Amino acid sequence: MPGSVFQEISAFAPDAAASPRHVAIIMDGNGRWAKARGLPRIEGHRRGVEALRRAVRTAIELKIAYLTVYSFSAENWTRPFEEVQSLMGLLHLFIRNDLAELKSNNVCIRVIGERQGLPADIVGLLDEAERTTQKNTGLTLVVAFNYGGRQEIAAAARCLAEKAARGELSPESIDVDTFGAALHAGEIPDPDLVIRTSGEKRISNFLLWQAAYAEFVFLDVLWPDFGKLDFIAALEEYAHRDRRYGGIDPKPAIKTAS
Ligand code: FPP
Repeated sequence: MPGSVFQEISAFAPDAAASPRHVAIIMDGNGRWAKARGLPRIEGHRRGVEALRRAVRTAIELKIAYLTVYSFSAENWTRPFEEVQSLMGLLHLFIRNDLAELKSNNVCIRVIGERQGLPADIVGLLDEAERTTQKNTGLTLVVAFNYGGRQEIAAAARCLAEKAARGELSPESIDVDTFGAALHAGEIPDPDLVIRTSGEKRISNFLLWQAAYAEFVFLDVLWPDFGKLDFIAALEEYAHRDRRYGGIDPKPAIKTAS
């Protein structure tokens, strides 16, 4: 039987070294949640926004530094027009309704993904959310919207190639660090933990570069049902993982900044 928020959180007390600094979530299963109830898919997405709010609040309470959420992929444009419109509308509502609470909770919002091609009002809102929270020092909430990992890598390669062609960069200077810095939010540390809900076990073009050494936790819960206890269960599973980064010695579950 779940206890109060405080009981749940105080019961989960891994040592700081075993807590992920950056958690990324593939919020999957909205459509199946709706279908199982005979509801339109958009109702699943609406309930998905509520689950997103819960996840953000939990991340704040657990003092996670970075939370990245996959809200709309570059491939989601292939969905029916009405569903795409609804997802745009939900992003609009989320920022309009939640920005004040996020600001007052010291949340810094970052958006990754391609803004070109998005409706102008959405771009304006994304800019406003980033601009008005940029000095906040609490949780960094990274919203992946119109995001694709391959597209992000291709864009970074194009940008570096253009700089090289202009003579501003020597090709020899391109390495893992300079390339990583050319990605959308290059200064944000790689995710330590990627959670995917709904039982599907794939990466779906999410953070392909950044998740090279992330731990993956797949949960059977559908995203609209995702709550604090599911989040904590994923963190507990993470805390028991040995991270070796290609070496042979287990490292603490979090890679300390060098
Ligand atoms: C995957 O479920 C979810 C998405 C494609 C969108 C995620 C969106 C939200 C959680 C709500 C919107 C939030 C914002 C901020 C826009 P699915 O539709 O693929 O589910 P299915 O696999 O069961 O069909």
